[in-house]
Amino acid sequence: MYLITLDSQTDFESWRKTARALALHQIAPADVTWSVQGRAKEAVPAGLCEAPGIPPIETDGTFSVPANFIELARIAALHRDGERFALLYRLLWRLRTDHDLLETRADPDVAQATAMAVSVHRDMQRMRDVIRFREIGREHNARYAAWFVPEHHIVEFTAPFFARRYADMPWSILTPDICAHWDGHAISFTPGISQTEMPAPNRLEETWRRHFRPDHPITPEAPKKSHRNLSKASILEPLLADAERWTGGWITPRPEAPMKRKLAADDLDALRKEAAHCRACHLYKDATQTVFGEGPKSANIMLVGEQPGDKEDLAGHPFVGPAGQMLDRALEEAGVDRKKVYVTNAVKHFKFVPRGKVRLHQKPTTPEIRACRQWYEREVSAIQPDLIVAMGATAAQSVFGKITPIGKNRGRLIDLPDGRKALVTVHPSYLLRLPDPETKVLEYQRFVDDLKIAAGLQKKAARAA
Ligand code: URA
Repeated sequence: MYLITLDSQTDFESWRKTARALALHQIAPADVTWSVQGRAKEAVPAGLCEAPGIPPIETDGTFSVPANFIELARIAALHRDGERFALLYRLLWRLRTDHDLLETRADPDVAQATAMAVSVHRDMQRMRDVIRFREIGREHNARYAAWFVPEHHIVEFTAPFFARRYADMPWSILTPDICAHWDGHAISFTPGISQTEMPAPNRLEETWRRHFRPDHPITPEAPKKSHRNLSKASILEPLLADAERWTGGWITPRPEAPMKRKLAADDLDALRKEAAHCRACHLYKDATQTVFGEGPKSANIMLVGEQPGDKEDLAGHPFVGPAGQMLDRALEEAGVDRKKVYVTNAVKHFKFVPRGKVRLHQKPTTPEIRACRQWYEREVSAIQPDLIVAMGATAAQSVFGKITPIGKNRGRLIDLPDGRKALVTVHPSYLLRLPDPETKVLEYQRFVDDLKIAAGLQKKAARAA
């Protein structure tokens, strides 16, 4: 008897190599017990040989199995059934002599493996459909987390889908099996969180903080051996490609809607009319109206804020409330002529929660920023500014297309991929909220200093004209 212990529940590659070696050495399925590290050690029955001593394979050409078996096996191997590796080895063993076995749908082994793969596939689809990220932390510390209980071992397999769909936001998917984390560059994994600790949606942040240090990038303290340094180019990519074939492509991210279109410079008015009916996200439902950008078409500077506030929502114009007054004052001190700049927001509808007679501002989420980005892109296309000033984290996320920390990037000109320059600074509301008068003065001065960079550019353009 041979006991084969795989590294983890998702260690398909070891199963594949070992199964091949076993079959080549004529070791029948009845003589093999499959286990997974940390699970069945204590259950090793007497008489089992734990180090099977299978000699390395000298040749790899003695038998072949249909490619669709490997595809089927990869998915079915993610099933939670403890017998799946044994079943798959039995199928492999039989396929050596019956190449068309998979066509026999009524065969009990084929039927069982197929049912497992379908169940895994459904679970992946459910994960894709039900996961809703909640924001935890704010501004440049913002991170998104979701709790999910998978039926099968699908988290590692499905994580690249979320990395692609939510490429520009750092997220964590917490599950009882394993937690997946995306930092914008690579996926990493840490051990799962016990179901007894299952966080209620409003306690997700607390759970996240208890398990992971919030101010440090997630590098698992004790990563699982087979999950170390997984990135887009890791073993998950070929697995994902297979999944796309096996699952008919559902795992491919849906295209972002609606599509970006290039507009001629004189289309700004048409754009404004079109945006008045925007339904790209739910925010239009409660807001009074779309608050579109304003300023001359000839502006060479575009100022981008977060979203209209209460006053702007009622008036239909950007930056006319308290934050607007703060902005006007700083622009004047910096020497920027507001009449010559185009002023807009990353999100064009007011997001708020009612509290009695007051409407309390709510920060827009990444999906809302994304849904609205088409308008920002089309405004850029229509205005063709030389410099885009992003005021605050939401604006910076929209301008750079990804979460962009203010502190690290403020106060200097940054090249955008389309050849324009960007300048990152704080949002004027941030200055309004500062409680300490001394800090307020200092921060206001830094804001003015940042805007002076824009003033320099405006003057240079005026001289050149
Ligand atoms: N805050 C913004 O970001 N934009 C406005 O128009 C008003 C307040």
